[in-house]
Order: sequence, then structure tokens, then C-alpha cells
Amino acid sequence: MSNVGVVGIQWGDEGKGKIIDILSEYADVIVRFQGGANAGHTIVVGGKKVILHLIPSGILHEKKYCIIGNGVVLDPGILEQEINDLKSIGYIKDDKRLMISGLTHIIMPYHKKLDMLRESKKKNKIGTTGRGIGPAYEDKVSRMGIRVIDLLDKKMFSDMVKENLEIKNFIIKKYYKDQPFKAREIIKSYEVYRKLLKKYTTDTTQFIHKCQQEGKKMLFEGAQGTYLDVDHGTYPFVTSSNTVSGNIFSGSGAPPTSVGYILGICKAYTTRVGEGPFPTELSDETGERIRKIGGEYGATTNRPRRCGWFDAVIVRRALKLNGVKGLCMMKLDVLDEFDKIRVCTKYKLGNRFLTDPPMATTSYPKCEPVYEDIDGWNSPTRGITSYGDLPLNARKYLKRLEEIVGVNIDIISTGPERESTIVLKNPFE
Ligand code: IMP
Repeated sequence: MSNVGVVGIQWGDEGKGKIIDILSEYADVIVRFQGGANAGHTIVVGGKKVILHLIPSGILHEKKYCIIGNGVVLDPGILEQEINDLKSIGYIKDDKRLMISGLTHIIMPYHKKLDMLRESKKKNKIGTTGRGIGPAYEDKVSRMGIRVIDLLDKKMFSDMVKENLEIKNFIIKKYYKDQPFKAREIIKSYEVYRKLLKKYTTDTTQFIHKCQQEGKKMLFEGAQGTYLDVDHGTYPFVTSSNTVSGNIFSGSGAPPTSVGYILGICKAYTTRVGEGPFPTELSDETGERIRKIGGEYGATTNRPRRCGWFDAVIVRRALKLNGVKGLCMMKLDVLDEFDKIRVCTKYKLGNRFLTDPPMATTSYPKCEPVYEDIDGWNSPTRGITSYGDLPLNARKYLKRLEEIVGVNIDIISTGPERESTIVLKNPFE
């Protein structure tokens, strides 16, 4: 039971990439189980910034196996680019280190087009990343999806593309009044991906079971965050997959008994990219300051992230939903220069106080955050590696957060570099 799952506790962009990179050192296998190239995991290694959308960040560690699980929706063009970029800086020397499930669904050009056309026509926009995620998951559920294993079969792939295009082109032409796709062109352009994917396609479920039997340590890498979960998030302003820890198992084939520790990643404040409710959002100078100091711009779309204070209401629910054993508090250093730091402990909705988020997404905008003010520390924490070296008020802030959310903080991040981390408890030990 030494396996660990890592999930985002807020609206994504919590900094999972950095932590997965650090924890990969203690794991033998790193498994991505959901989402697609909508995610962007930024890691700084040796002063070099690497952004990974699909390949688990563990790839930066030699000898570790990285798996793209069946729960992912895979854009083969982005995968190719990522492999080439990694190879150009000396990573993935051994192709056997990267494995892709044959059951993983593939993003097709019409998914991306439909994603963008839908967004442009929608009155209540979701603010998607335009990477075709929603349409690809829709095809999966409607049993129209094309999987890696289908692409590897030339005839099957060609038949499936033609069948899909009958419907997709009808919608694109008739409803969106846009240019249809030519089956021939798609089939031809995906030939190169067939060759590429053939190299990496594996029965990853079997591999995971074997690893478990042999006592290998596995790290399950989540993408996005709990409030973007298609069931538990602020629907419809969510992504199209389950981002919570429960999906580790269906998205990878690992049994539910295989994970003993879920690490929840959250920022010392809150951010959100795209549309949707955000009770503690700061649309003022303070929000702008957090964005600027925290460099809060999307790793995938470069959109400015909306910023606000730490929201304990959403965090508390997320910790329970995911079965979080320990928290990792990211970007503490971003708050170094604030005299007062606010934490939302509950919402006021009419004359009621809520300690859990409301069920209806439409109720969020009516919720007024109730804040507790905490004294800032006004001194640099950037790069601090030992808890004892943190200023007293920073320690007080962390202690108070632990009390409010009811879970221990096991890891604290004080900067983007691997080294700028305080590990109080290693989830693998
Ligand atoms: P989609 O996943 O591209 O369909 O986008 C749906 C919503 O999820 C949008 O609000 C996106 O901004 C948001 N989203 C998707 N992936 C991420 C992520 O990795 N980080 C933060 N937000 C994301």
C-alpha cells in the first residue's frame, strides 16, 4: 500500500507538476489517469523551464516508467512535439520508459474544431482550453471514440474516421456553417501518429498489476483540480473528466486497494482560469498583485488566471472527496509582501452560514465569503527549505490553515525550483 495519488484541491494550476517531479524520485512508475493536453505542468529543472501537457513529469527522472493511462484523451500531435522536445534536451533516451494504454482515446481534428465552434457560439461560455477535450470525452461515452488500439489497425481507423465524419461534418456544415473535414486528409495525416504510437502502446493495466505484485512504487498523477471535476465541480464550468482521486482506478486499471496515500495540492491562495463561480475572487488591486507576484498566467493558454484569497470552504469539501491524507501548500512565497492575509472560513448565503459549498452552481455568486484576517509576515520565504526558518507569522498562517481545514500540511513549496521545498512528511515513507 505504498502507492501515492496526487490531486488538485482547487480549480487546477495548483503546482502538481513540481510535486510530482519531486515525488517521482521515490516512485518506480508514474501514471497519468485523466485529462489531456488541457493540462500544463510546469517544472523548472537546472534553471530550465519544461512544460508538459501529456507525459507525466516523472519522465525527467532516468529509469522511471511513465504511463499515459486509459482515462486520458491523447492529442497525438502534442505528444509527438513533447517527445521531440524532451529528446532534444536529453530525456527519454530509453523509449521503453514511456507507455501508452491502447485503450486511451485519441483527440481528432474535429474534436478541437467542435470545441472551438461550440465555445464561440455559446452564450454562457465555459472558457475551455480549445484542446478538444469535451468532444473527445463525449465520443468516448457515446461509443464513437477512436482509441490508440483502433488507430494501430489501419482499416479499423479508416472506417471509424469515415463513420465519425458523417455526423461531425453534418454538424459542422449545417449547424456551425463551417468547413467540413475530408476523411482522406485526416487518415493520411494520422499515419505518422500510428508509427509513433506503435512504439509506446502497451497493455498498461497489465503492467500496473505486475508492478503491484512486485511491490514497485507507483505515483498517480492527477490533472486539473477538484472543482473542475465533471461531477463534483462547479458544473457546467468544469472539464469533461473526473479529476478526483476516485478516477485514479478507472483511469488506469489499478485497483482501489492499491493507493494508500492521497496528497492534495493547493495554493496558499486561490486561482481559477476560464469562466465559472469563484467566491473569493479579488477583482481589485490585491488580485492583480497576487497575479503579478505569482506569475498567474495559464501554462497551456497563457490566459491571466483569476486570483483570490484561500477558500477553506471548497478545500474542506475537496479533502473529504479525495480522501486526502496530507496537504501540500504551494506558493507560500507569493504572500510574502502582504500585511494582512485573508482566509474564507464559511459562506454567508442569505441569513444562513455554509461551511460546505452550495449544491447549485447558481448559488455560488450569491455566497458572500466570511473572512478571517491573519497577520502577514512581510519577509522573504522564497527558497526556504526548512520549516524552522519560516517567519513566525508564516508558520502561524500554515497552522491556522491546518486547523480550519482539518488536515496536516506535509509539504510546503517556497518557489518554483525543486529545491525550494519543505518536506515535513514524505508520502512514500
Ligand atoms: P477544457 O478542459 O478545455 O474543456 O476546459 C474546461 C474548463 O476547465 C475551462 O474553464 C478551463 O480553463 C479549465 N481547465 C482545463 N484544464 C485546466 C488546467 O489544467 N488548469 C486549469 N484550468 C483548466
